[in-house]
Amino acid sequence: MHAVGIVAAAGSGLRLGADLPKALVPLAGRPLVAWSVDALRAGGVAEIVVAVPAEQRAAFARALSADVRLVDGGASRTASVRAGLDAATAGADLVLVHDAARPLTPPDVVRRVLAALADGHPAVVPVLPVVDTTVVVDERGAVIETVPRASLRRVQTPQGFDRVALTAAYALLAPDADLTDDAAVVRAGGVPVVTVDGDERAAKVTVPHDLATAELQVRR
Ligand code: CTP
Ligand code: MG
Repeated sequence: MHAVGIVAAAGSGLRLGADLPKALVPLAGRPLVAWSVDALRAGGVAEIVVAVPAEQRAAFARALSADVRLVDGGASRTASVRAGLDAATAGADLVLVHDAARPLTPPDVVRRVLAALADGHPAVVPVLPVVDTTVVVDERGAVIETVPRASLRRVQTPQGFDRVALTAAYALLAPDADLTDDAAVVRAGGVPVVTVDGDERAAKVTVPHDLATAELQVRR
């Protein structure tokens, strides 16, 4: 089986608030996107396509090795992944979609996703339990109800797919669809999604505190 990795790296990182695109922000001196590409490689994914902000292509080319293919991303994560999927070579039968913003994803997470795909599941996501009490609030912030959390999960990346199933699901989506992950895309197309264990170290760098946490992690 041949897996292609698609790394979504075309976001601007508004919540991180750095003066360059989030994927280029350094962690221990290396851009986040370089760490994320390495994580996929360490888990066994050889072919990598990275969706980047069109106007930053040169900077991404400098940040990544020459065998990584760059494509122009889109206005939403969904559009960026779609662009990456269009550029993946036809030889791949599996696709792993990963966030550039998850630099410290352990290779074992990648391997668990690949193993579930090898078992024949068409869609696989790494997940973690929800540990905080979780509530629904009204528009003023007053608590309406406490949600039983035993069946809730936090979803990470890389998310793995049978390439034909993912391509078909994207073809059914409206051109301006904007979903937060790819499992939602295939589920909209009726494909069942299974879960494997995620890892806290695969946390997404979203706000400055997350970057500080990642810096501590690499120093340990
Ligand atoms: N992403 C993308 N194309 C977009 C938007 C997001 O490829 N148009 C990517 C980001 O680069 C990131 C991943 O999707 O690796 C997860 O998105 P998120 O954490 O929301 O990153 P940003 O959209 O860059 O951050 P923010 O929402 O704070 O602006
Ligand atoms: Mg975003």
